[in-house]
Amino acid sequence: MTLDIRGSLKNTRISKNPSVVVDELLANSIDAFLIRKRDEANAVALQVTLQVKATKADLLGEEYDLEITCEDNGCGLGPEQRKAFLTKDTSYKDDLNIPGIGKCKGTGRVQFFHHFRAVSLSSICREGDGFKHISLPFLRDRKTIEETDFTVEDRDTGEVGTHIQLSHLMPKLRETILSVSSVHRMFTAEAIRQHVLFNLLQRFVSLKDDLGDFQIKFVSDLGGTKSE
Ligand SMILES: Nc1ncnc2c1ncn2[C@@H]1O[C@H](COP(=O)(O)OP(=O)(O)OP(=O)(O)O)[C@@H](O)[C@H]1O
Ligand SMILES: [Mg+2]
Repeated sequence: MTLDIRGSLKNTRISKNPSVVVDELLANSIDAFLIRKRDEANAVALQVTLQVKATKADLLGEEYDLEITCEDNGCGLGPEQRKAFLTKDTSYKDDLNIPGIGKCKGTGRVQFFHHFRAVSLSSICREGDGFKHISLPFLRDRKTIEETDFTVEDRDTGEVGTHIQLSHLMPKLRETILSVSSVHRMFTAEAIRQHVLFNLLQRFVSLKDDLGDFQIKFVSDLGGTKSE
């Protein structure tokens, strides 16, 4: 099974919403948590940390770069999730029948590749009585992702969840939707929090009983100006 990244980019347009990557990361984290809850009797409350880091721009804005990471305590990238990740337009979530996970297009991650040259992840999932550690190493400009690109190792202990890292912003976006000034406006911790609250409030309310006493932490470091 192979995910043809360049092919996906041709068929799924880049979103006009500059926060699309944040929205897709959080949607996946919440879905992953609901999947974990289905399989675990006493799953903890949802915990997500979303971090945005913009490196300092020089006067021409050329040194400026952006990195977004999202860490959750969802189900992790087990075999089913990896298969979904590698399947173009995956319908994996459509058949789960988990309340709170609606119909999906199966293309959220394509926005990651539209925005960033490198997508890497590290994840722990439960398997039997033990755990597996899964990682997709950092590599710029991947053309494809195959099953063999993931490393999978046994672990005796671990915190189940996923950490995704998006880095090396696509150069053309620095001059358009993700310019230094728009990032400094949109991606302070407070601005992301407002955006997410506005967007996801309804989902949070309807999932009140499933998410528990959840926490979503927003951390930003914009050219050295930090907020949380
Ligand atoms: N944080 C995560 N934890 C566990 N699995 C994940 C996570 N993020 C992505 N995945 C897996 O990767 C698959 C592909 O993600 P992607 O966001 O592209 O599609 P989707 O979420 O299935 O559909 P859509 O985003 O269009 O609603 C998901 O179906 C899921 O199985
Ligand atoms: Mg998604």
